[in-house]
Amino acid sequence: MAKFTILGMGGFGLSLAVMLNNFGHNVTVWSAFQSEVDDIKRDGENKQKLPGVKISDEIQLTVDMSSVSDAEIVIFGIPTKKLREVAQKAAPYLRPETVVVNTGKGLEEGTLKRMSEVLEEELPNNPIVVLSGPSHAEEVALGMPTTVVAASKDNKYSDYVQSVMSNSTFRVYINDDLVGCELGGSLKNVIALCAGICDGMGFGDNTKAALMTRGITEIARLGVALGGKKETFAGLTGIGDLIVTCTSMHSRNRRAGILIGKGMSPESAVEQVGTVEGYICTKAAYELAKKVGVDMPITEQCNNVLFNGLSAKTALNNLMARPKRHEAETVWVE
Ligand SMILES: NC(=O)c1ccc[n+]([C@@H]2O[C@H](COP(=O)([O-])OP(=O)(O)OC[C@H]3O[C@@H](n4cnc5c(N)ncnc54)[C@H](O)[C@@H]3O)[C@@H](O)[C@H]2O)c1
Repeated sequence: MAKFTILGMGGFGLSLAVMLNNFGHNVTVWSAFQSEVDDIKRDGENKQKLPGVKISDEIQLTVDMSSVSDAEIVIFGIPTKKLREVAQKAAPYLRPETVVVNTGKGLEEGTLKRMSEVLEEELPNNPIVVLSGPSHAEEVALGMPTTVVAASKDNKYSDYVQSVMSNSTFRVYINDDLVGCELGGSLKNVIALCAGICDGMGFGDNTKAALMTRGITEIARLGVALGGKKETFAGLTGIGDLIVTCTSMHSRNRRAGILIGKGMSPESAVEQVGTVEGYICTKAAYELAKKVGVDMPITEQCNNVLFNGLSAKTALNNLMARPKRHEAETVWVE
């Protein structure tokens, strides 16, 4: 059994804490906010972020960052825009042999870096593993069968995470395509926002299937240009995560999209829903695509809706009116 410290007392951090505690691991969860600790101690659950899931007394809750110092594995369950800040706080306490696992999905605003790149910069002495795949917190916490992928630059560490974190409810695969796994997990949130927008506008299954299929195509196109392997995008961290995010009401990206599709401003929708990783990621993905010269029409239109005042209706018309193409003009074909 391993000693885990999980950073972040939100939905995903707590769901992993519950799952790991159920399988006998020693789990501490850290929050930057004393109020989060107090609320869970009082209510026995995080009513706002993971309602209805009891947080066992065996799980230690703390605001003391030195709790990372005796952990074998430290898991970051922090929204991506705060990841660098929290990594800087953790750095002085981390032992170099501690394996760091990131679960946040997104790209850093401005630098356009993947989260493992951010962690490598802030924690240069620690091995970094990315855990990604179709894994709604609400279902992980209830022990519903879930599959994810551990990826790292050195397979030794993803093997280690796989061996320690796998159990009868949580099956961990490994993949040596760190870039592809991270980009699939991050960019699917852009398409989930669009899927929500189409739901909010009253469109149906045809539209969503089109978005998901053409969405994974453009995600893979960017991913391959940045060094990912095309087959990764057909796996759990690509199409797998895209399916779960575009079709579920657990997805905050999709829920924010629905509000936008019904006419709410993007800023208000994001404020109402909370952690909507696809919002910043849309802008970052659009900038990244421009930088490397990759065509991402859905991401481009989404960026215009979110940040340039374009109506969702016009964005959709623009996509439908694009020059006619062969479907197979994609990375899926050699
Ligand atoms: N919720 C899921 O089902 C799920 C699944 C897989 C991956 N993820 C990813 O995990 C990350 C976290 O998601 P979540 O659902 O747990 O988010 P959340 O909004 O439920 O919780 C985030 C937690 O991060 C911490 N936090 C927030 N702002 C902070 C700050 N300024 N400084 C320090 N700590 C801060 C808080 O403890 C907060 O509760 C996201 O990147 C998300 O994409 C979520």
